[in-house]
Amino acid sequence: MEAQPPAPATAAPGAAGRGPGRVGRFKVYSPEAVTRGLTAYNSTCGYCHGERGKGGKAGPDLIFSEVTLHDEDGIQLGARVRAAEHAKAGKVEVSDSQIADIAAYLHSRVIYASGRGDVRMSEVLIGNAKAGETYFNGAGGCNKCHSPSGNLKGVAGKYDVATLQDRLVMPRTGRGGRGGGPASATAPYATLTLPSGEAIKGAPIRVTDFDVTLRLADGSTKTWARNRGIPKVEITDPLQAHIDIMMKLSDNDMHNLTAYLATFK
Ligand code: HEC
Ligand code: HEC
Repeated sequence: MEAQPPAPATAAPGAAGRGPGRVGRFKVYSPEAVTRGLTAYNSTCGYCHGERGKGGKAGPDLIFSEVTLHDEDGIQLGARVRAAEHAKAGKVEVSDSQIADIAAYLHSRVIYASGRGDVRMSEVLIGNAKAGETYFNGAGGCNKCHSPSGNLKGVAGKYDVATLQDRLVMPRTGRGGRGGGPASATAPYATLTLPSGEAIKGAPIRVTDFDVTLRLADGSTKTWARNRGIPKVEITDPLQAHIDIMMKLSDNDMHNLTAYLATFK
């Protein structure tokens, strides 16, 4: 059955190592561990998770699995296999050393797949779209301003994944204005409040302690003298809320969100 031996990880084409013992972000394990892992995998996991970890009738793909992609030396894989959740699928008896070998084998498959372009090396992709969706509509609060069928529709087709993640973090940079119109919709604007209470909005051209010049909606500019902060001028950045959220994102949330956004075709 196992016609294709685990590819020697170091031979993964196009995947330059970032240091000894790594290919990209992936750790390279010894060939002996990989070979032992293959045997252990086939006898304890393979009949559910399929040949070479590609998923089988009774268990999901373990190569694109978040657990594998975040695993170090079998620790996360071991924890997952021994979790109550997994026991429902079937009780699996494996020792720590077997799990470590199985991890070495699965990681070699990840590197192999990434070298072939099956798994993209960019760390960006190492996310879970489902978790991203939950975050988008829950803790992240992204759905307050965005929707997959509304203003983020087609965002996946607009950028490659790495750029998509950059846009997520910093929407304003590098944008060449989108087809005329509301390029200014995300530009910071000023609100000037006159002593009468009247509020005037415009693009801030010059704001000092002594005067303030705004460009108004009709394109004209207008200047007011200021004295001790009067009239009051407030600058609003429509992207501020977005930026605030991004500052707080964990790497994990960010990768999950990117994976989710990548489905907005
Ligand atoms: C009896 C079938 C069976 C066997 C044997 C089995 N698994 Fe699973 N495994 C499953 C099923 C079904 C799921 C999906 C349900 C779940 O999430 O627990 C799963 C889920 C997983 C997951 C989570 C994947 C993900 O991305 O969510 C990991 C990791 C995993 N198994 C690793 C292993 C390893 C490693 C072995 C061998 C030591 C193994 N499993 C043996 C059936 C099996
Ligand atoms: C308070 C409102 C607000 C919230 C909350 C918010 N954003 Fe944004 N986001 C914006 C604005 C405004 C833009 C700029 C829109 C534009 O460029 O037309 C933007 C731009 C983006 C872009 C770039 C779109 C493109 O076409 O380049 C992505 C991707 C994005 N947001 C994702 C998210 C995600 C994911 C979250 C949740 C973690 C989030 N945003 C939360 C307001 C928000």
